[in-house]
Amino acid sequence: MQLLVLLSVLAATQAAIVPLVDTSGHFHTSAPADAVPQGKNVTINGVLTYVSLPKNKKFDPTAAVLLLTDVFGLPSPDNLLLADQWAEAGFATYAPDYLNGNALAMGGDITAWAVNHTEVQTTPPLLAVIGALKSHGITKLAATGYCFGGLYTTRLVQNNTVRVGTMAHPSSLNVPTDFELVKAQSHAAIEINNAELDTGFTPAVALQTDAVLGNGHYAPGYFRRQFDGVAHGFAVRANASDPVQVAAKQGAFDTSLAWIKAHLE
Ligand SMILES: *[C@@H]1O[C@H](CO)[C@@H](O)[C@H](O)[C@H]1NC(C)=O
Ligand SMILES: *[C@@H]1O[C@H](CO)[C@@H](O)[C@H](O)[C@H]1NC(C)=O
Ligand SMILES: *[C@@H]1O[C@H](CO)[C@@H](O)[C@H](O)[C@H]1NC(C)=O
Ligand SMILES: *[C@@H]1O[C@H](CO)[C@@H](O)[C@H](O)[C@H]1NC(C)=O
Repeated sequence: MQLLVLLSVLAATQAAIVPLVDTSGHFHTSAPADAVPQGKNVTINGVLTYVSLPKNKKFDPTAAVLLLTDVFGLPSPDNLLLADQWAEAGFATYAPDYLNGNALAMGGDITAWAVNHTEVQTTPPLLAVIGALKSHGITKLAATGYCFGGLYTTRLVQNNTVRVGTMAHPSSLNVPTDFELVKAQSHAAIEINNAELDTGFTPAVALQTDAVLGNGHYAPGYFRRQFDGVAHGFAVRANASDPVQVAAKQGAFDTSLAWIKAHLE
């Protein structure tokens, strides 16, 4: 009995909540002004959703990518262009406004903002959109989450709501507890792109994640790729004049795309 108590105390002290990274810790170089988002804003089951469909090519109408944005949400053109990139790769892509019309402004106070964006406020609009997609015949759903969206990708994986999940520089996770829950109850393959210089999901946290899911410990499939020389937010925004950032952003996209293609059947 005493040993069990001691073990759980130890586990509690080792578990760490990955913090939301302050806005100053994100790359702020925004998309080029001449880049025009190709998708449309649509209201799905009462929730504003940016929808980007593959253009001039056939796509599987029973499959879709759910793009779970960072805290800057749909007002950030970078998120819309990222959804377009998924559509260009052949997937109907849906980015729900699970921030309830209240995305964080660039340079805004993330700690104050987070109070009104807990799972209690964020999960219902997310599930409303997913419910509508499923009732319209989308059976093969993948989630790809960035920063804030990493927590929700993990939740959808834990609940087997999606068939596969990828995330980049996730925040707000409880590591290793959240991944232990994945291991205990999920059938969905999971992939993580992390940044060497991330102050939230640090390389040390990434190694704690590997200890749970890596080395074949997670049968549905796990892969993690670390990008060196870049920081939090790198998979969403890159300084176009910095080849390291540009290559990392593209590399994260390509890795997630390959993973989703391989596991969405
Ligand atoms: C979609 O809505 C967002 C948030 O209101 C807005 O910032 C964006 O410009 C809209 N995009 C399009 C293509 O209408
Ligand atoms: C949170 O939302 C409530 C209700 O909409 C509002 O009164 C409050 O000012 C918000 N808090 C912050 C920090 O935005
Ligand atoms: C996952 O399941 C839990 C337990 O049923 C529920 O509370 C939570 O809202 C679900 N989250 C998502 C994102 O589906
Ligand atoms: C973008 O990268 C270039 C080349 O490294 C650098 O000179 C410039 O200051 C960077 N811009 C921003 C906003 O970080």
